[in-house]
Amino acid sequence: MPKLRFIPQNKEIEVESGINLLKAADQAGLYIEGDCAGKGTCGKCRVKLVEGDAGNPTKAEKKHLSEKELSEGWALSCQKRVKENWTVEVPVQKEAHLRKTTLAGGVENLEGDPAIEKIAVKLSRPAVKDQTADLERLLKHLDRDDLSVELRELSGFPGMLRSNNFSVTAAISGNRIISIEPGDTSDQLFGIAFDIGTTTIMGSLIDLHKAEVIAVAAETNPQNIYGADVISRINHASEGKGNLKQLQDKVIEATNTIIKELLKQTKVARDRVYEIVAVGNTTMSHLFMGVDPTYLAPAPFIPAYSRALELEASELGLDINPAGRVIFLPNIAGYVGSDTLGVILATEMDKRTSKCAAIDIGTNGELVLAANGRLMACSTAAGPAFEGAQIKQGMRASAGAVEAVQYVNDDFEISTIDDAPAKGVCGSGLIDAAAALVDSGLIDATGRIINPEENPDQLPEKFKNRLKRGESGFEFILVPGSDSETGDDIVLSQGDLRELQLAKGAIYAGLKILLKEAEIDEQELDEVLLAGAFGNYVRKESALTIGLLPQLPSEKIVAVGNAAGDGSRMALASKKIRERAFALPDKVEHLELSTRRDFQDIFVDALKFGQ
Ligand code: FES
Repeated sequence: MPKLRFIPQNKEIEVESGINLLKAADQAGLYIEGDCAGKGTCGKCRVKLVEGDAGNPTKAEKKHLSEKELSEGWALSCQKRVKENWTVEVPVQKEAHLRKTTLAGGVENLEGDPAIEKIAVKLSRPAVKDQTADLERLLKHLDRDDLSVELRELSGFPGMLRSNNFSVTAAISGNRIISIEPGDTSDQLFGIAFDIGTTTIMGSLIDLHKAEVIAVAAETNPQNIYGADVISRINHASEGKGNLKQLQDKVIEATNTIIKELLKQTKVARDRVYEIVAVGNTTMSHLFMGVDPTYLAPAPFIPAYSRALELEASELGLDINPAGRVIFLPNIAGYVGSDTLGVILATEMDKRTSKCAAIDIGTNGELVLAANGRLMACSTAAGPAFEGAQIKQGMRASAGAVEAVQYVNDDFEISTIDDAPAKGVCGSGLIDAAAALVDSGLIDATGRIINPEENPDQLPEKFKNRLKRGESGFEFILVPGSDSETGDDIVLSQGDLRELQLAKGAIYAGLKILLKEAEIDEQELDEVLLAGAFGNYVRKESALTIGLLPQLPSEKIVAVGNAAGDGSRMALASKKIRERAFALPDKVEHLELSTRRDFQDIFVDALKFGQ
């Protein structure tokens, strides 16, 4: 079996001969960026072979890597089959999820009314005159004769009672005792709220006794090896026996890594975590629960279920108290999941009397409109461009990503995350860069980069050397020769601008259709809420310049952070809010955009830069 050594991570594994290198890295627990599920089209799964023979480059490698890079050992990991011992350098992905993690706690004060109750009791001692069995004695002291108990709790119960002077604590979920613990542990009551994103999974450990978030952790969703978007993952799940289980195992594994990290940070015992409440899009909900999502992909986009699902942690293999409950909040429709429901909960759109829209831009774009007593939602096929996918040098928001571009004093000011040398462009940088190009006059309203050969007079001298020919038209050089690994320019290509237009056009068109349905004009909106990590980092001015948002005064556009995650935290901390969540799908009207005859015209109109 060939041996692989990955540096600088310093991991070694033996793999089956012929295995794909991208899959082998995954087996070693390493994350390699890639958007195309190994099809060779995105060119992002680059690694460098430091020792070993890479063989001849494939067509895809020749397309995405220069001669120089190939001669230096650069390769696309999805194109390589491991047949001999190799040492492979994997570019470090520094905290791709950091931005999302830092958004925890957007809702500062949680309402505390937990669904799990912990009651400490001191039982009377048995005697010849009182031969009540131990369990019945406990139920009598709890004053509840409707409770059932887990067998695993009962097995050691008699000994525990006697060695703890008949003092115990029961953790109760509904009408079940899920845990019996020695002594008084009533103040040790914890739960974890999860936001299962297509790209990032985020967990918040909550002290349910105090209604406080005490730790937050995040992981990249390792399902991304099967594609960056939900459709690729549904296709993978449908394509072969065992594939659904593979996808479920990936997400459960990442969820357990987060749980471990949260418990390590806080020194909370795993058995004192009694509940998990999760939100995610409908596909993520299916894959987390291990339910076949096949019929979500083709019209009419039918999910296997939409209600909330509740399981025992041990059934899913989640490392909390084995009898702990796992609740995935209900979905609204095939492409409007419980994450959108979380946004509605956190922003209280179901209670507002003002006219308000919420836009959650993640790997997909979901929109909600509250107006005239109606609550409406839709999803748009925005694609993952805002997360850096399908963009030539797109990357997630991690160190070295161009995150902000401004056109000031006739020049471009560019900054990267952590001030690291530029390696690529993330979503906020993409929007900023496009807006800066609009401001500078280097692109027109149709999104076309001006041709320096056709229009030499239109182009200021100093920008002449910043435009170069690329595969899909002209490219604007954002940062010359910056890529620390390849020395390449960091560019914004014509193709990138087209991807951005499609994504922003889909979102704006979705909003326009919701407004049309509610019979209100966009100027009547009192507020537009930007949810998601992206919402916090995008500059409103840039979003307005490129026509992603309606032309409203910027104070009406408000970033609300990771509202989906906030929704899951709120539903975990409060039974009342959870009940509100369970009732929400019946109150939200779902609009299916793909069947609307007016969509195409509105969409084409929304593609323009500036409105
Ligand atoms: S080119 Fe390898 S994952 Fe896309």
